[in-house]
Amino acid sequence: MPPIQSPKGTRDILPADMAAWDEIYATHARVAEAHGYRAIQTPIFEATEMFERGIGAGTDIVDKEMYSFETSGGDRLTLRPEATPATLRAVLGAHLDQERRPVRVHYAGPMFRHDRPQRGRYRQLHQIGVEAIGERSPVIDAEVIEIGWRFYEALGIDGIDLQINSLGDLDDRRRYRQMLVDFYTPHLAGLCDDCRRRIEINPLRLLDCNQDAHLAAIAPPASNALSPASSEYFESVLGCLRDAGITCTINRHLVRGLDYYAHTAFEFWHTSLHGAQNALGGGGRYDGLAEVLGFPATPGVGYALGVDRALIVLQDAGAGPAAATDADVVVCSLGAESVGYAAALARQLRAAGHRVILDAAERRLDRKLRNADRLGARVCVIVGDNELAARTAMVRDLGQRDQQSVAVDAVNNTVTAILGCGGEGDK
Ligand code: HAM
Repeated sequence: MPPIQSPKGTRDILPADMAAWDEIYATHARVAEAHGYRAIQTPIFEATEMFERGIGAGTDIVDKEMYSFETSGGDRLTLRPEATPATLRAVLGAHLDQERRPVRVHYAGPMFRHDRPQRGRYRQLHQIGVEAIGERSPVIDAEVIEIGWRFYEALGIDGIDLQINSLGDLDDRRRYRQMLVDFYTPHLAGLCDDCRRRIEINPLRLLDCNQDAHLAAIAPPASNALSPASSEYFESVLGCLRDAGITCTINRHLVRGLDYYAHTAFEFWHTSLHGAQNALGGGGRYDGLAEVLGFPATPGVGYALGVDRALIVLQDAGAGPAAATDADVVVCSLGAESVGYAAALARQLRAAGHRVILDAAERRLDRKLRNADRLGARVCVIVGDNELAARTAMVRDLGQRDQQSVAVDAVNNTVTAILGCGGEGDK
């Protein structure tokens, strides 16, 4: 029987890789919280209708990529492909916007999209994100963008290319949609099947198409449809970014793959990601989304960043944290009689705050010492029949390769002293 494989497009995060993942999550939480954003969690699955209404028919996510199912009770549910509609639902459902505006939240977790897997594109992907809900101001748009920018800076990722555009308000977008229909209609016969459908139901999505990218490149830019007020709003956002020392590229064709954006839309690009997967993250303002979900009109802006893609960039640059060791101390018993004594010593050391592995296997001491080295430990505490009888332990400094016999009460202090002089790097 062949061994069971992980589902296509998913990956295991093995212990040696966890330090890099943890660092990304911790750095993002730290940077977001430094700006007053508080953590929030929403369910992994949600009503399918929320995504259909929020993200929009005609988007790749809703048309092709959702993991949807019906429960025996008849509920239509979907594994979340992204977290923005649910975060908005959670914040407005709990009336948090009545306590403070904007409500500033950050989140992290897995999302699910039935995409074609390749490097940087997975079916279980991981995002970190922020949303600021309840205020419509260019200052807030710029604040959100700055958090993403500072996050990459804190992580040590250079070469971020911030692409930014404005899609304007509802009227601007209506005008823009018509401009796109007028532009694409003469090319109808040459369009791919998807685009022939998109022109009917969702013309903005024509610009997302890879097959018809040559047309997207010469299509009218979104700026052609902006009202003076929308242009002014966008200029204010750009001004705030300039003041923050953040450089950006204005990309008049950037429409993002989701329907809910109004005004500011942006992406963080990086050159070590190629082609369609070049976006490390993206976001924008979604002032119409609350109403689409059935809530009172409430403005909002946010972003989501791909953790998987940030890791690729870090790995390509040879950066990231050193792999964590398994333990500081290995307590080795020699012979069956001393196992209980060794276990008690291990417990005592853990209570003193050390990371301790008990090696009670029946094997020779030299093998146990080699194993302790492999685990990254700096100290071995060795006990056999003699130590058990005398209530002592042999404490071996694996870095210095010397050892001393100490009384049971002195074990913690001796180990702490060894671990205290010199860090992991000395080993
Ligand atoms: P999104 O552009 O669909 O936006 O996704 C954000 C990021 O998630 C992408 O830039 C990419 O790094 C990562 N990502 C997306 N799909 C995949 C995949 N299949 N494999 C690996 N990484 C992927 C959103 O999700 C919006 N909710 C962002 C937002 C928040 N807008 C306003 N607030």
